[in-house]
Amino acid sequence: MRIAMIGTGYVGLVSGACFSEFGTDVVCVDKDSSKIDRLLAGEIPIFEPGLDKLVANNVAAGRLSFTTDLATAVKGADAVFIAVGTPSRAGDGQADLTFVRQAAKEVAEVMEGYTVVVTKSTVPVGTGREVAEIIRATRPDADFDVASNPEFLREGAAINDFMRPDRVVIGTLEPRAQEVLRELYRPLYLIETPIIFTQLETSELIKYSANAFLAVKITFINEIADLCEKVGADVHDVAKGIGLDGRIGRKFLHPGPGYGGSCFPKDTTALAHTAREKGSPVRIVETVVDINDKRKKGMADKVIAHCGGSLEGKKVAVLGLTFKPNTDDMRDAPSIDIVPALRAAGAAVSVYDPEGIEEAKKVISDVTWCENAYDTMPDADVLVIITEWNEFRGLDLGRVKSLMKAPSMVDLRNIYNPAEMANAGFDYESVGRPSGLAEAGE
Ligand code: UDX
Repeated sequence: MRIAMIGTGYVGLVSGACFSEFGTDVVCVDKDSSKIDRLLAGEIPIFEPGLDKLVANNVAAGRLSFTTDLATAVKGADAVFIAVGTPSRAGDGQADLTFVRQAAKEVAEVMEGYTVVVTKSTVPVGTGREVAEIIRATRPDADFDVASNPEFLREGAAINDFMRPDRVVIGTLEPRAQEVLRELYRPLYLIETPIIFTQLETSELIKYSANAFLAVKITFINEIADLCEKVGADVHDVAKGIGLDGRIGRKFLHPGPGYGGSCFPKDTTALAHTAREKGSPVRIVETVVDINDKRKKGMADKVIAHCGGSLEGKKVAVLGLTFKPNTDDMRDAPSIDIVPALRAAGAAVSVYDPEGIEEAKKVISDVTWCENAYDTMPDADVLVIITEWNEFRGLDLGRVKSLMKAPSMVDLRNIYNPAEMANAGFDYESVGRPSGLAEAGE
């Protein structure tokens, strides 16, 4: 088997490397020659744990290669995966399909023999059919099928998510196409991964529904966390108490500053848009989009309230900027809303992130960039944790205290224990949990 992967962004690169690890010959294509040059030099353009090794091993084994030449990659391939970007279109928030359409046309021009063209990018329902029409219009004689095969990769855990997924969804009912995809995913049959074959449109909608549902879950627990703060309840126990009901499930019930990243914000907006366009609005998702946007902005108010209602002339130390740990991705990160709001409230802000500083500098300005966590803290009035990187979980609290003006922390990811923080002398606030009381004698 040989496949071409069009697009060496996050999804294309991870999927290409993982398919090659499964034993398939994979040629990854990208128009961006500087990206291909870097990959050919063994450099990985994104931060994803384990990806560098996986790529290096499979390149060395001769199963994985990179090129800017789409024609050579596509000619004779059993399957061509389209994994190009689908950014949110300015104005209406709908997914911009320019790159997908362009890729479909270019693939059609050069494909040879029976080829399965698979959309891996997250695309609005109906895009698969459109891809098929583009190919047919470009090459009326082409022998092909179009399938949808959405990815469910979490950044930071993408390789594991690809190799040991909860399920694989394949949108095509054509036997020949199913056969090719079944062969590509053969190693997953050995570990009994459920593989769902369904129609093209259903597969496209599964992807949006999965991400929207998870966004609903997060937003639900975020709102319950706010209520917990008002009534003195602990959101973690609420999450456990409801999550142990198998119908609800425990995952994605961790409260925080609102979801971000490359998928949830984009996909919820796109789903809401498609649904409205089709005259069947998904109002719960529209509401979730609205609540989450407001939440991210509102987190700065939480810090202001914690500091007695004003940040004028105060210094805020911020730890974590990326939308989640183990990535350098800043797309729709809550910090993009929170940090400028802290500045606007009159605070001087020092920031540190283990991997995200370079990306953060493109979207955040007017702050002091620090080399490590402790460098943010001298004379700070409050320490704010926005992203739960592991290295922030074990801060030397004595050192933190000695550096700060006063020991005060707003932990937007609940990585510390309220009682322990109270015992350590911190004015500590988290999300949806009562503040701890210091034990007697401490
Ligand atoms: C997500 C989906 O999980 C993945 O299946 C999909 O294909 C791509 O989008 P990703 O964006 O990498 O993956 O990150 P994920 O771990 O799902 O987190 C998304 C956002 O939700 C982050 O901002 C995270 O902080 C937030 N989140 C997640 C919470 O606030 N609480 C939770 O309980 C879980």
